[in-house]
Amino acid sequence: MVNEFDRYRHEHDKGVRAKISWALKLPKFWNSPLSKEVIRLVDLQKGENVLDIGAGMGPASVEAASRGAHVVAIDPSRFMRAILGFRRQFQKNPGLITVEAGVAEKIPLSKESTDVVCAVNAVHHWTDLEGSIKEIARVIAPRGRVLLVDEDFTDPKHPQHETHHDHEEEMTKVDVELIKGLFESWGFEAKGEKVLLSGLPVKLIEANFQ
Ligand SMILES: C[S@@+](CC[C@H](N)C(=O)[O-])C[C@H]1O[C@@H](n2cnc3c(N)ncnc32)[C@H](O)[C@@H]1O
Repeated sequence: MVNEFDRYRHEHDKGVRAKISWALKLPKFWNSPLSKEVIRLVDLQKGENVLDIGAGMGPASVEAASRGAHVVAIDPSRFMRAILGFRRQFQKNPGLITVEAGVAEKIPLSKESTDVVCAVNAVHHWTDLEGSIKEIARVIAPRGRVLLVDEDFTDPKHPQHETHHDHEEEMTKVDVELIKGLFESWGFEAKGEKVLLSGLPVKLIEANFQ
């Protein structure tokens, strides 16, 4: 059955060949040190509510749940949701992870319902940056934290620079200054920077709600 998020689906959700190609990247997307680092940086506390936008196979969601957080993992891809839905069953506390169809542009959560929002390697997929930040501002609770991290393939120091340098041009450019400004316009204290995280050059946007 078609749902409203299907139009956000990307190539990995279309056709057998694309699925095989993603399955081959499984080691990276299953157990990403970068996601672990993101969850460490947001200083997650047991019992907090976390939203993982573009959760994929769930490396950040699983890490957050292992720290006792309640995670809502959203992704428009049925393929990714199926993998994470399967994976969650093998976690110590599967009830801590809820997998839902959703996109940054339309988050299936109510107002002020989440303490932490994270997204790893997902921002370049967002087709409407302004609308997505507006949605995050809607669902974040007072004093909530946001951490968005995308690998910076445009940096020659990135190991996949040669093959992936034009990655964002095909989708959405992750302009840290622009995104920082969007958060500020919604009352967040924000910073946007290019740093090394887990040994990789990344674009990082950190935003704290008042
Ligand atoms: C490169 S994967 C990263 C997955 C995971 N966060 C990780 O680090 O392994 C990007 C994910 O974003 C999802 N995505 C695509 N468009 C999206 C949107 N508009 N909002 C949220 N997620 C989206 C894709 O389906 C995909 O699972």
